Amino acid sequence: MQIQHNIALKPYNTFGIDAVAKHFVAVSTLEDLVAVLHLEQYPEIFILGGGSNILLTKDLDTLVVLNQIKGIEIVSESDNEVIVKANAGENWHNFVLWCLDQDFGGLENLSLIPGNVGTSPIQNIGAYGVELKDVFYSCEALNLQTKKIETFNNADCKFGYRNSIFKHEAKGKYIITSVSFRLSKTNHTLHTNYGAITSELESLGVSNPTIQDVSKAVINIRNSKLPNPKDMGNSGSFFKNPVISTQEYNALLAQFPEAPCYKVSDNEVKVPAGWLIEKAGFKGKNMGQYGVHKNQALVLVNYGNAKGEDIFKFSQLIQKTILRIFNIHIESEVNIL
Ligand code: EPU
Repeated sequence: MQIQHNIALKPYNTFGIDAVAKHFVAVSTLEDLVAVLHLEQYPEIFILGGGSNILLTKDLDTLVVLNQIKGIEIVSESDNEVIVKANAGENWHNFVLWCLDQDFGGLENLSLIPGNVGTSPIQNIGAYGVELKDVFYSCEALNLQTKKIETFNNADCKFGYRNSIFKHEAKGKYIITSVSFRLSKTNHTLHTNYGAITSELESLGVSNPTIQDVSKAVINIRNSKLPNPKDMGNSGSFFKNPVISTQEYNALLAQFPEAPCYKVSDNEVKVPAGWLIEKAGFKGKNMGQYGVHKNQALVLVNYGNAKGEDIFKFSQLIQKTILRIFNIHIESEVNIL
């Protein structure tokens, strides 16, 4: 374990922003991570996982700790179920593929989500009708104060839409070191209701899908809509889909009768922010070094050398415009640093 200085963070954030870490260390064991917490000259640290949900608007003065603690193990199993534990530094998609290779079901709809296992509970990642919380069993997290490991079960995490305790009470107080999942070994429950999955499976000619087929369909849909960070910097959905009251939705419908929504509860609906952004004329907008993706308006992209600060200002312009046109506030999903 070696502390480095003035390290370019461009390779460590999927937005591809060229910010600098004044101090930087990569850790690959829990012991090293605990040792880093004991370094008195660095009282403040910033934990970096896959860097897939951050927008760097400035250089970082704190010690940046790259969590590379890897390893996957089966904790327990019965005839039908298995509990699999993955350490925080495992790449999310590689872990999903590992599970599919063992024929463990539950994560297939979450294929190809960028980032690492350790950050997946923070925002309760979700896609195509499944959220992390549906398969999450528990996670272990290092308490920064006591430097002891604590276990959080599903209820402890207070999961919500792109939300958890790690964005609120527990924010900045823990480092997630591993996540355990409850997966199926037989009689897998398939989630193919999300419109695009059904039609993708049809076009793949699959009538009796396996979990591997569902994963393939999800990968195809994501590849067709979402830019690969390797080709074009981005952090997936930049904004959350706003949840509004049915009353507010009726007001929206009066002006825009075609406005789509998903029911959340008897008196709330979720409006796709991508629709709002597209309707406001931003889809495919090219601002030079940055812009809005041409196939999915919810994704802001870095065409090459954008500054994080410029993307942030652009996101504020989008927010203000949406508020003015629709009277709806859209919140960023990405962490702005
Ligand atoms: N839409 C548009 N224009 C667009 C994009 C979307 O009109 O440019 C409307 C359409 O009505 C479309 C609807 O939005 O039917 C839904 O679009 P999509 O299926 O692409 O999903 P989303 O709501 O835009 C969410 C997640 C994605 C996830 C997809 C699929 C959030 C913030 N985003 O997007 O997650 O992949 O559903 O489940 O909830 C991410 O979090 O980084 C992410 C990519």
